[in-house]
Amino acid sequence: MRPTCSFPLSLLIASLSPTSVFSQPTPVDFDPGFWSISINGGSAASGWRWHDLYANYSSTPDITTHCKWLYDPALRNDTTTCSGDPSFRYLWGNGQASITVQQTINVAVAGIQGEVLIEGTALFTYKANLGANGRQFEGAVRVNATVVHKGVETARESAE
Ligand SMILES: *[C@@H]1O[C@H](CO)[C@@H](O)[C@H](O)[C@H]1NC(C)=O
Ligand SMILES: *[C@@H]1O[C@H](CO)[C@@H](O)[C@H](O)[C@H]1NC(C)=O
Ligand SMILES: *[C@@H]1O[C@H](CO)[C@@H](O)[C@H](O)[C@H]1NC(C)=O
Repeated sequence: MRPTCSFPLSLLIASLSPTSVFSQPTPVDFDPGFWSISINGGSAASGWRWHDLYANYSSTPDITTHCKWLYDPALRNDTTTCSGDPSFRYLWGNGQASITVQQTINVAVAGIQGEVLIEGTALFTYKANLGANGRQFEGAVRVNATVVHKGVETARESAE
């Protein structure tokens, strides 16, 4: 089976452009919601490192995006393979203090319609030193979303 997406962490970083990470969110009339994220991972004495990330977006709780990250010490490169929502991106590496996630959602509410890019950053604290060898970790975090790019603005119908 072909994974829906496979990209190295460096490409993920590039795709989360600094302007979107640091720009002010655009005010709109809807609540962009949040992600429920859990991550578990570990490392081996051989140098392999990995983590599994599971993310549910609050408006589509039935869709769980699952990303597997793997660092191969022999090749000295890493791969990330995700299934679930293909627009989901994240910026996090084993041990990092904060996580940033992005997703494109479709919105149809008064005043705004179409694809909206949402993003959020949160501190990620996790339990470490788990597993028989003490090399595993796990944690969960809620990441609130803000709107980075909104869709097409539509005319508001005036109240009668
Ligand atoms: C990692 O290295 C292998 C071997 O050179 C290569 O086939 C693979 O595409 C590389 N992966 C990435 C994400 O660069
Ligand atoms: C995502 O939703 C599924 C199904 O409701 C649930 O089993 C899973 O625990 C949720 N994952 C997270 C990270 O909240
Ligand atoms: C996320 O949003 C909820 C609901 O608005 C709020 O209670 C919570 O404090 C927010 N969390 C952060 C880290 O801002």
